[in-house]
Amino acid sequence: MTQAPEVWNSAYDNDTAPWIIGGPQPAIVELERAGHIRGRVLDPGAGAGEHTIALTALGYDVLGVDLSPSAVAYARRNAAAKNVPGARFEVADMVALARSGDNPLGTFDTIVDSALFHVFLADAAARADYVRTLHRLCVPGGHLHVLALSNAEEGFGPRIGAEMIRDSFTAPGWAIEDLRSDRYYGRITETIAEQAGDLTPDAAGRVEAAAWLARIRRIG
Ligand SMILES: C[S@@+](CC[C@H](N)C(=O)[O-])C[C@H]1O[C@@H](n2cnc3c(N)ncnc32)[C@H](O)[C@@H]1O
Repeated sequence: MTQAPEVWNSAYDNDTAPWIIGGPQPAIVELERAGHIRGRVLDPGAGAGEHTIALTALGYDVLGVDLSPSAVAYARRNAAAKNVPGARFEVADMVALARSGDNPLGTFDTIVDSALFHVFLADAAARADYVRTLHRLCVPGGHLHVLALSNAEEGFGPRIGAEMIRDSFTAPGWAIEDLRSDRYYGRITETIAEQAGDLTPDAAGRVEAAAWLARIRRIG
């Protein structure tokens, strides 16, 4: 079972989300600098909205979606506080969309998944549905970027092996163009205090963990 919206809501309502670091993930910032973001952009599982906000501020046409109404409310407040009123957020369940005849979101040239794919670590059916939704929402030839926590090191959160990415994004629908080690930054809250107890926060209060960064093209 994947987690219900109420579970995610509580992380935002009680400010216990360990992934909220007050800005975008450095790996996503670097992706943009390297020229890998183009056209209409989707930020699925947008959370606090940092990637949608940062990319909108740079002039991209971005939509952030999240299963959790509290996340969307948080992201909208965050965008207002950062003075990026053009940042757009909607509530949408990327798993349920696979089973629905409708596609209210449209299609996208670039999809930037930061820490959503790994959420489906223990739920193969939800993971397969999520990948089906991604395929439907990504234009042929478009790109999906996945930043996911890695099990290569001890850390926090749901950590996956590279083979889960390789197995999920195979031909004929997808081609993995790049799959490399990177870092994901979080903060220690009560949610991960036990798991991350040995990590020392940096000057900005962030802790870092091993991650995968995959660049995947929709080919069919
Ligand atoms: C670990 S957080 C990552 C948030 C953000 N992308 C980041 O990197 O800071 C995962 C987010 O995905 C959302 N989420 C979980 N299941 C989802 C689903 N089926 N569809 C859309 N969003 C989902 C959660 O509400 C949560 O905000």
